[in-house]
Amino acid sequence: MIGKKIQDALLELSSIKPNTNVIDSMINDLLQILAKKRIIIYPAGYLGRTLEKTLSAHGIETEYFIDRDANEIKKIKDIPVLEPQRLDEFSGDSVVFVSANLNAMVEQLSGVARRHNNKLTILNGFEANRLLKYPLCLKKLMNHAPFDIIECENCGFERHGCPLCMAYLKRTAGATTCENDWRSPSFTWFGYIVGQACTLKCIHCCEAIPFLKSHKFVPKDVIISDVQKVAASSRFLTFVELIGGEPFMHPDFKALVEELLEIKNIGYIKSFTNGTIVPDKGLCQVLKNPRFMLQVSNYEKQATGKLLDNIYATRKILKDEDVKYIFTEHFEWQDFSSFDLHNTEEGKLKTVFNACPLRNCNRLYSGILYRCPHQYAGIELGKLKKRAVESVDVHGHQEKDLADALEAFEHVNYIDACRYCSMPFDAPVVPAGIQLIQKEEV
Ligand SMILES: C[S@@+](CC[C@H](N)C(=O)[O-])C[C@H]1O[C@@H](n2cnc3c(N)ncnc32)[C@H](O)[C@@H]1O
Ligand code: SF4
Ligand code: SF4
Ligand code: SF4
Repeated sequence: MIGKKIQDALLELSSIKPNTNVIDSMINDLLQILAKKRIIIYPAGYLGRTLEKTLSAHGIETEYFIDRDANEIKKIKDIPVLEPQRLDEFSGDSVVFVSANLNAMVEQLSGVARRHNNKLTILNGFEANRLLKYPLCLKKLMNHAPFDIIECENCGFERHGCPLCMAYLKRTAGATTCENDWRSPSFTWFGYIVGQACTLKCIHCCEAIPFLKSHKFVPKDVIISDVQKVAASSRFLTFVELIGGEPFMHPDFKALVEELLEIKNIGYIKSFTNGTIVPDKGLCQVLKNPRFMLQVSNYEKQATGKLLDNIYATRKILKDEDVKYIFTEHFEWQDFSSFDLHNTEEGKLKTVFNACPLRNCNRLYSGILYRCPHQYAGIELGKLKKRAVESVDVHGHQEKDLADALEAFEHVNYIDACRYCSMPFDAPVVPAGIQLIQKEEV
């Protein structure tokens, strides 16, 4: 019953015009129920600790954390951390919030909790946090207080959206509205491939980096002018990603980020890094900009020697310089590196495309916009052909034409590359980041 209340409130929250009064009353209802329960959070990671803070801001105190590493963690603030088997000791008036952002992980941990004690009410802690954050963030928005975009991302912003975060981003990005707006309403984010060089050689790299013949960087001024042009032709770009290759290898990376942050109509700039290029203090200062988000992918298991030392050094300087970042664990990837003909039935292509999580993972490289990494990699490797509408030549369009081209691009039913791709149904799951050299040694 509590789970249903959370779902109903989240549904209202994700509607086009959420009714704040309805959401408020749903949340108050929920808080009254929770106030009478014993609250347990499982596990005690970042998301669990975030939920504890959110509940506490509403006057709901957490009684215990549950974590398999309870013997090491022992306490968070004054809250004891118990091992999962201790769930046996609780009665039916206890609520266990399972705080993980992947549904599969929530299901797995909920199963563990249920096996220990089937009387407990088990709820999705990630969803509960997203809901209970709403009134707190609404107050911040009204008071013109700054938002922490990493907190928003951890709250599920990029995956689920949030009207409050969107309003905040538009305000800080100087977004404008106008009558008869000709700018593309549908094109909302993309990743710029700033260069094709990388320190690692991941066999299953979605951008096929180890297999490209040359490893060029796109000059900073070309990147800036491409991003400016796309931003001017879009109603609002929620964010622009910097990817590669390894973005931190770009010879003008610091100036690039500084100049990108000057462009209006973009919520935030987000860069990935594999962590093997250690940022200096000057770059760290730029990375601390509230409109910049850093995502460090975890290659600690695959990198060796100097590269591994560098990863540790990167994490140390980011900590010392107080640069917040998202650390992507990434235990598993999918292998969709083959360009063999895979989907021969015309009717299946739309289904494949609609189900593919990468269908909006747009990539811009040297003035050409691609729908997804597979299409970009295939064309760069010479295995796939560039086709009209499915890719956009940013240099070849004026702003108004570009807006029309972006709209058409966003509304394709599928792309030809889907014929030569095993995503999303048939791409095998593989360990993340296996290095080319390791394969050759086997
Ligand atoms: C292509 S990389 C580029 C930036 C940087 N070199 C890095 O690895 O973080 C961007 C992201 O894609 C992820 N990635 C690469 N290939 C993948 C695959 N086959 N499946 C899932 N994720 C993949 C990486 O882990 C990384 O987080
Ligand atoms: S996404 Fe951000 S603004 Fe929205 S509820 Fe979560 S933390 Fe608050
Ligand atoms: S670190 Fe791996 S995934 Fe990232 S660009 Fe390099 S080869 Fe690709
Ligand atoms: S080619 Fe099609 S199926 Fe493959 S990753 Fe791109 S959008 Fe997905």
